[in-house]
Amino acid sequence: MSTVLVTGGTGFIGSHTCVALIESGYDVIVVDNLYNSKKEACNRIFKITGKEVKFYEIDCCDKKALRKVFEENKIDSVIHFAGLKAVGESVQMPAEYYRNNIDSILTVVELMKEFGVKNIVFSSSATVYGSTGKVPLSEDSPLGECTNPYGWTKWMIERILSDIAYSDPTLNVVLLRYFNPVGAHESGLLGEDPQGIPNNLFPNVARAAAGVIECLNVFGNDYDTPDGTCIRDYIHVCDLAEGHVKALDYVATKNGGRYVFNLGTGNGYSVSQVITAYEKACGKKINYKFAPRREGDLPVSYADPTKANRELGFKTKYDMDKMCEDSWRWQTMNPNGLE
Ligand code: NAD
Ligand code: UFG
Repeated sequence: MSTVLVTGGTGFIGSHTCVALIESGYDVIVVDNLYNSKKEACNRIFKITGKEVKFYEIDCCDKKALRKVFEENKIDSVIHFAGLKAVGESVQMPAEYYRNNIDSILTVVELMKEFGVKNIVFSSSATVYGSTGKVPLSEDSPLGECTNPYGWTKWMIERILSDIAYSDPTLNVVLLRYFNPVGAHESGLLGEDPQGIPNNLFPNVARAAAGVIECLNVFGNDYDTPDGTCIRDYIHVCDLAEGHVKALDYVATKNGGRYVFNLGTGNGYSVSQVITAYEKACGKKINYKFAPRREGDLPVSYADPTKANRELGFKTKYDMDKMCEDSWRWQTMNPNGLE
């Protein structure tokens, strides 16, 4: 039995990945400082899988506390989700973003070295491609200038992990570049529960549909796209979670190296198309208005998913209708998130 340390494991993607790992036979240990999540996620994981996860409320930048986790458990692999992720907030508080995101990964890799742990999977983002303009984005598309400190932390951590992989050829380093993770577990027990005002499209569409907010702002309808709104590659969070299991299965056959994969569907949906699909899922009209463009948004971004298909055997299962249905079920079953 292989044991995975999941940092940021009570968060949105981390909690769904814990379920996927447990269902694939992995033992899971969660570390989270609960900055943007709640411990209740562990109970929900238990309800879905029937298995307890071992939970530590620890900040990954706290080396002494994190060392205890490595001492108490025989860890085979780390999936590092822990990080701050709000693009706009990162512009307001760059030092906090650089400190948290860079310090936490450095602490993790130093402890991995100390304890001889050989596999790390990192949550990177399509944001590292910058605004080159060419789609679909494949893993060898040029990396671009990021538009915000959050994006730069992903870019820098990719660089740091690449240098570490080069210095230690026995280490397996997997950089997963997510496109736009959305949806929720189909049980309605796990989903996205951002603390504070959400930035991303799906939580806002869900809140507009539920009447929590009066009106959804659609940022820009004058882009050079068929309906004028931005196009993104939305991927169901359970598909994304499965991508992490595939990545760990993959490195189990490797003796070291650096591997980069896009995790997306390869299909682009405009904001207007998402609203239409969500209206179908929730059975009502969503109140929205067109607002000015949001700074830093790219007109179009979607993945070339070929490499992950071919090398990881990763293929997404869920379509936009399912993403909206599961998101709506989560919203209606948990109007106040994970209380
Ligand atoms: P999330 O905020 O739900 O989860 C991140 C978790 O990390 C939270 O539970 C938070 O409390 C925890 N955390 C933050 N700093 C920590 C620290 N120093 N020590 C311990 N725990 C800490 O976010 P998510 O959407 O699940 O994203 C997970 C990862 O994927 C993040 O690194 C994010 O940047 C990356 N990512 C997310 C998206 C997206 O759109 N959701 C896209 C690309 C990449
Ligand atoms: N949007 C709205 N209204 C909203 C929220 C978003 O119209 O209330 C629009 C945005 O302008 C954009 C689209 O919906 O056109 C998607 O926006 P999101 O904020 O959901 O997602 P992004 O593509 O901006 O960001 C995502 C991740 C980031 C990552 C980035 C680039 O959330 O972590 O992709 O990969 F950095």
